[in-house]
Amino acid sequence: MLGLLLILSVSLSGEVVLSNVVDDRCTAPIASDNDELQFEMNLGFLLCEYFVCSATGNSSDQFDPSLAAGGPPPVGCQRGNFDPLYRQAIEEFGLIMIRHLKDTAKALKGRAIPRPLLNISREAIGSFVNTAFGRQLTPAFDPYAAPDQHAIIAQVTTYTAALFLNGATARILDPDLRLLAASLLGIRAGQNAVFRGRLY
Ligand SMILES: *[C@@H]1O[C@H](CO)[C@@H](O)[C@H](O)[C@H]1NC(C)=O
Ligand SMILES: *[C@@H]1O[C@H](CO)[C@@H](O)[C@H](O)[C@H]1NC(C)=O
Repeated sequence: MLGLLLILSVSLSGEVVLSNVVDDRCTAPIASDNDELQFEMNLGFLLCEYFVCSATGNSSDQFDPSLAAGGPPPVGCQRGNFDPLYRQAIEEFGLIMIRHLKDTAKALKGRAIPRPLLNISREAIGSFVNTAFGRQLTPAFDPYAAPDQHAIIAQVTTYTAALFLNGATARILDPDLRLLAASLLGIRAGQNAVFRGRLY
């Protein structure tokens, strides 16, 4: 289990790191404050839909239709097979994500980005996990089958988001936006600790 967590964390954080590398001459600032927050919103939408869908069976559109800013609904939205306590925690986390996305969209100086097309289907997440292992898992990994499976993916995604925000907090120049990023980081790190604690 721990091995899987590490592999997934590394493979996901690798993408975040790579997306910020410009080239080997990299000297100038590589992203504006808005770029940083828009990137964070992409991760936020993923977390939001993963939480809200798995807790309720409905996407965030049922809670706030304006949140997606015209973006397409997530593919593969599915209610998880959770005990009541876990479901309640995940729904709360989903509602927190909706709040964070609204706050971030409001704080952005430019246009709020629409929700990207997200494929959070069992099959898409299962094939991501196969890639992390380098082979086809049998039975196929299903994040909606039980809380522990769900928590593995939640651990990786909240960790990635916290890692990104940790860097963004240092890079963002505007004091208000930096404060926002720091507050998102605090909550994301707390969420990550919940999943990590559950998996140990
Ligand atoms: C999803 O939203 C629809 C429309 O509001 C509602 O009828 C349905 O009960 C919701 N499904 C779940 C699983 O909450
Ligand atoms: C979602 O991902 C699954 C698994 O990769 C794929 O089979 C399916 O076609 C995808 N759906 C969309 C609409 O992209």
